[in-house]
Amino acid sequence: MIPSQRALFDLPREVTYFNAAYMGPMPRHAAKAGAQSYADKQQPWKLGIQDAFIDAPEHYRALGARLFGARADDIAIVPAASYGLALAARNLEPDAGSEILVLDGQFPSNVYVWQALAERTGAKVRTVSRSDNESWTEAVLAAISIRTAILACPQVHWSDGGQLDLARISDAARRQGAALVLDLTQSLGALPFDLDAIQPDFAVAAGYKWLLGPYSLGLCYIAPHHQESAEALEENWINRQGSEDFARLVDYQSTYQPGARRFDMGERANFQLIPAGIASLQLILDWGVDNIATTLGHKTQDIIEAVAPMGLIPATPDRAPHYLGLAVPPQTPGDLVKRLAAEQVYLSQRGTRLRITPHLYNDETDVTRLVEVLKVIL
Ligand SMILES: Cc1ncc(COP(=O)(O)O)c(C=O)c1O
Repeated sequence: MIPSQRALFDLPREVTYFNAAYMGPMPRHAAKAGAQSYADKQQPWKLGIQDAFIDAPEHYRALGARLFGARADDIAIVPAASYGLALAARNLEPDAGSEILVLDGQFPSNVYVWQALAERTGAKVRTVSRSDNESWTEAVLAAISIRTAILACPQVHWSDGGQLDLARISDAARRQGAALVLDLTQSLGALPFDLDAIQPDFAVAAGYKWLLGPYSLGLCYIAPHHQESAEALEENWINRQGSEDFARLVDYQSTYQPGARRFDMGERANFQLIPAGIASLQLILDWGVDNIATTLGHKTQDIIEAVAPMGLIPATPDRAPHYLGLAVPPQTPGDLVKRLAAEQVYLSQRGTRLRITPHLYNDETDVTRLVEVLKVIL
């Protein structure tokens, strides 16, 4: 169990923030690194080629790789989940009539891209639903078939908090020759990820939620067997061999930098974001993802016990330890989230679920405050 880390965050005592799944607050020292990066941009001679363009993004990549359990070589720096998913879609070619599986109510960045691919190729997007007492794992395993060409899913469903057993699912998908594409935005950094057992083709995570980083900076794992053959979305100059030598950039190179670097977004060295991203990832690695998951598991359990008497009940079996998607009682006012926010209690509603997502800055005072305010409103 990790003790409260509230002092590392700029969270006034009167604010109860249970909304990491919406946006992770940046730790103070990450924000400071970000502010320094803007100060440096006012004095560009401080942005040295080696540090700013090469070492800093490599540092970010290496830290991110540890969260995936991957080699730095297997990680591309991306701006958004949609970018990594577009990369996957560009490099997968489902047969006409084959199926691309997605979950019911899945986050749109991981749906639209497959609808577009299906239109191009004649494949079909099939939506996997689950019944109330069924887990997402059971529903997905039942849906995988010889027709499955691609399974595009998360590790944790963003609205109900259901966790998928990706090792089992991956095994079943691989037996049918299907590609596995993962959106880890609602889990990486808060839930361990077993790369060896899961072996996805592509796995992406936006960095501004559970990675506590700045907006527009994320990470994408690309399996080694795709790296040589796959096409990048952009042909940025720095992703080519020898780009460290700024004097010779127009000695155009046909070879790329090694591994997944060829898929990096343009301006991957983003010196306004990378320093803050490094600070946040380092903090997560220092805490340890196993420890974060265990600690958040206790916090969500405390919340469940505190709110259950008001009729707020977890809406899925196999819920992820860090994530609560609660079914709300019928008398719940439509503007519940707004009324909570008016009392400085912040959480989300996604679909019919009340989403409560704590992090290490939340403590008992927050739970007490949540219950106090809910009691008044419900
Ligand atoms: C599951 C999931 N994926 C991705 C995103 C963000 O997508 P993008 O980075 O494409 O804007 C969110 C944001 O809420 C999300 O919940």
